[in-house]
Amino acid sequence: MGLPRLPHLLGIEGLSPETISGLLDLSENYIDQNRSIDKRRDMLAGRTVINLFFENSTRTRTSFEVAAKRLGSDVINMDVATSSVRKGETLLDTAMTLNAMRPDAIVVRHQESGAVNLLSQKVNCAVINAGDGQHEHPTQALLDALTIRRRRGSLQGLLVAICGDIMHSRVARSNIHLLQIMGARVRVVGPPTLMPTDIDKMGVEVHYNMKSGLADVDIVMMLRLQTERMQGTFVPSISEYFRFFGLDHEKLKFAKPDALIMHPGPMNRGVEIDSEVADDLDRSVIHEQVEMGVAVRMACLEALIGGRRNTATGLAAGAAA
Ligand code: CP
Repeated sequence: MGLPRLPHLLGIEGLSPETISGLLDLSENYIDQNRSIDKRRDMLAGRTVINLFFENSTRTRTSFEVAAKRLGSDVINMDVATSSVRKGETLLDTAMTLNAMRPDAIVVRHQESGAVNLLSQKVNCAVINAGDGQHEHPTQALLDALTIRRRRGSLQGLLVAICGDIMHSRVARSNIHLLQIMGARVRVVGPPTLMPTDIDKMGVEVHYNMKSGLADVDIVMMLRLQTERMQGTFVPSISEYFRFFGLDHEKLKFAKPDALIMHPGPMNRGVEIDSEVADDLDRSVIHEQVEMGVAVRMACLEALIGGRRNTATGLAAGAAA
């Protein structure tokens, strides 16, 4: 299959199964390269990637940098905290300023849902959404899918429980879209206070307790309590939340005996997940998710800027396989 042709990667919603499979297949190519001594190729030599993160990140920002450098690209990590954003420059003026320096791609994380989409309309380079508010985090869902596919062979027919703070989670939204596009069934599990009111419109099963939510699932995907997005009280106390919704070995028994444990990170141990479960090497694939993140981001960069790109139109003009 040839590379999917994408001008930007703003979300999973609306992608075809073929595009998702194509990106996952492409990612597979990079796993061995990343495990070898010689990790560098020159596919993106001469290209420039700018990381523009308005929210904190360890995994996403670092792995985009690693991914771009392993393909030979130049990478600039813009430090928002010391930039002219602090003097009042707007997101769009910042983006257009960076765009004038003719980057090939801007990787953006922003606290407002929709901000990355808006920015993509103002620049003529590729834009990758590295997480926008509570909306989407497409490369996280792709790396989760790659991790599952390598462990289970396919996503088709799997039953996946996404547990915890569904309301504030862009990871949940991107995963719900991707898993359903690829033929998996999705349950969301959490307290009513952390469940979006219209979540059933996304075609998921909604469960308010771990016993029914985890029953017979193939994958248990835990989410962090996103206290930075909460205004007011959403859980009575951390200890009570952990008692009812924290994943430990007792609750894990509700799932299939070989169910995989996933978490996008960063983890809050003792809040949504017990250390013994997180570190259970037979079941937990949390570090594998991080590893797959580099391969997926290499694939996304290749798909978006790997061919000839007309910097005047921003359209990929030769992203051939
Ligand atoms: N999963 C994830 O997005 O992690 P970071 O916030 O560390 O990038």
